Amino acid sequence: MGADTTKTLSASEESYIETIDNLIREQGYARVTEIAAALNVKPPSVTNMLQKLDEQKYVTYKRYRGVILTKKGKSLAKTLERRHNTLKRFFIMIGVSNENAEKDACKIEHEIDPETAKKLAKFVESVQSAPRTPPFLEHFTQYLETGEQPKECKPKTQTRES
Ligand code: FE2
Repeated sequence: MGADTTKTLSASEESYIETIDNLIREQGYARVTEIAAALNVKPPSVTNMLQKLDEQKYVTYKRYRGVILTKKGKSLAKTLERRHNTLKRFFIMIGVSNENAEKDACKIEHEIDPETAKKLAKFVESVQSAPRTPPFLEHFTQYLETGEQPKECKPKTQTRES
């Protein structure tokens, strides 16, 4: 991560960065009215926030001309997106519905400590890149469905009789 001497942003400020990034990606630009609609806030609040984020060099905002992310803003948006994906994949892994995984990822991505996010990303990565579903995850899935632990770990090969 680049040298960042300013204080970290609040969850709400980070949500703006995320929303602007999404809008630009979807349609090529982001305007106050659309940001307001996406975040369910009033346009004057958006204008205030954009001015604040501009002062902190996360965005470039010109009245009536929309807003773009600076290099610093883009880098934060990338971090948030990565965290979002990690969290969402983790929640889905433990059986959470897609909808709740999405919702909670978007909340937690702003609060999680970088160390935790990093370790969680490694965890998800290691599970998803494993040659087969790790046994602990199979056990967990069974536990989730039946409330019981597997009797013992039988090899997944055929039985002796066959
Ligand atoms: Fe998010």
